[in-house]
Amino acid sequence: MTAPLLHVQDLVVRYKPRGLFAQAPPPAVNRVSLSLPEGATLGVVGESGSGKSSLLRAILRLVPAESGSITFGGADWLSLRGPELRLARQGIGVVAQNPFLSLSPRLTIAQILSEPLLARGDRPGPDMVAQTAALLSRCGLPPDFLPRRARELSGGQAQRVAIARALALGPRLLVLDEPTSALDVSVQAQILNLLMDLKADFGLSMLFVTHNLKVVAHISDLLMVMHQGEVVESGRAESVIADPAQPYSRALMGFRPRP
Ligand SMILES: Nc1ncnc2c1ncn2[C@@H]1O[C@H](COP(=O)(O)OP(=O)(O)OP(=O)(O)O)[C@@H](O)[C@H]1O
Ligand SMILES: [Mg+2]
Repeated sequence: MTAPLLHVQDLVVRYKPRGLFAQAPPPAVNRVSLSLPEGATLGVVGESGSGKSSLLRAILRLVPAESGSITFGGADWLSLRGPELRLARQGIGVVAQNPFLSLSPRLTIAQILSEPLLARGDRPGPDMVAQTAALLSRCGLPPDFLPRRARELSGGQAQRVAIARALALGPRLLVLDEPTSALDVSVQAQILNLLMDLKADFGLSMLFVTHNLKVVAHISDLLMVMHQGEVVESGRAESVIADPAQPYSRALMGFRPRP
């Protein structure tokens, strides 16, 4: 067996208490372990406050881990610092829930898609224009969108741009936090289909957080159910969805308790 692309072991994330004399809050992520093979999609579900976004933030190194370990692409992910971390981060693309919040409204789509390339040190010019146009087209929008601004787009179009930006540096892993929940139902399906096509084309792995069990069933190979910061159940998505073993997952998915 090959090593997983992403492996998380006993990860704990705890936010600081709010006031000087406030008690330390319980961990937002409590001893979470997961393994994501190359090319697979792991869906993470759980009610609001169960720690899904905190888990993603810790994987993205946006919040510190109190304890536990993460390996990504074979590297000891939590020990990377400075330029090394910046370079390694290019291996992870991020798609947020609301494209209108994650895309700067003043910039043109061309500027938005060039930003990560320029930050990496690529030179502006015709090659970069061609590259951004190709990326945009791969995400289902024609090149005449390049001079437009994010605020002029529909929700679905803006999310396509956000996905294109996340792919700009050729990541191996795409991390998505509720990427379709701000969109109309009809558009949700189009975005999910786009993600599945991209996954097949680029051999991408995905970590996909959602409230929506239909979405998870559609897109995930593996499924993990979280509750109060802990993993309640995990396994192949089909089996967990068809017959969840744990009472919490059964309730979440609308099954009757087992007799
Ligand atoms: N920046 C923060 N500072 C302090 N506590 C936080 C912070 N962000 C989240 N929390 C707490 O951590 C816990 C987990 O929150 P988190 O946002 O990870 O849940 P979630 O599963 O993503 O919820 P949702 O489905 O609503 O997005 C909650 O108790 C939340 O109040
Ligand atoms: Mg969240």
